[in-house]
Amino acid sequence: MRYEVFETPEALGQGAADLFESLLLATLRERDRFRVALSGGSTPLHLYRALRGRELPWERVEWYWSDERTVGPDSKDSNYRLAHDELLAHLPASGRVERIPGEIDPHEAARRYAEVLPESIDLCYLGMGDDGHTASLFPGTEGLAATGRVTANFVPRLGTWRVSFTFEEINRAHNVQLLVTGQNKASVLAEVRAHAGKHPVERVKDPLWLLDREAASQLA
Ligand code: 6PG
Repeated sequence: MRYEVFETPEALGQGAADLFESLLLATLRERDRFRVALSGGSTPLHLYRALRGRELPWERVEWYWSDERTVGPDSKDSNYRLAHDELLAHLPASGRVERIPGEIDPHEAARRYAEVLPESIDLCYLGMGDDGHTASLFPGTEGLAATGRVTANFVPRLGTWRVSFTFEEINRAHNVQLLVTGQNKASVLAEVRAHAGKHPVERVKDPLWLLDREAASQLA
């Protein structure tokens, strides 16, 4: 388990932004575009705020999402909206921005999104819930077994549908980084480190974990 521990969520955001910058510049030496899939949840906020103001070739960055709620882009629950309001709206330029159309039927959204995705994602961000889910691949849901690139997944504990990268898609990305903060994630992380085989997130192949001190508190 490859991980880096940061004192605070804000320090994690700065560290993640430094990694973003170095990966972006390295990728653009090889390819014309840098393709990023953003995760949902609240943790990415620290990354978004740390990226603002950095002078980078933003016009060569393409933005995608690794999952989305079944809401429209103006909803307070939209993963797209958080990234737009906290990052994209503050950038001087941007390449393609392809949000998941959460406002339409989730099966149609998954089908359409699979068609607009690029051949491969350079950097896929993920978060982890305190139940060990990642993206919208929750324990006990059908999405865990989904094949293809994008799936519609009903999540009984939330009583709602989600649209999410499949594990196949996540594991095709050139780089995967998991940003995890908070004491409530510590015990699940310890089980993941021990390869308990209990948690969906364990199916992500060889990610880089960026953790704050609290989330890492049970890692020996
Ligand atoms: C979502 C996310 C989800 C999230 C985790 C962690 O749409 O909610 O994609 O997988 O990353 O639940 O969320 P926090 O970062 O808020 O703890």
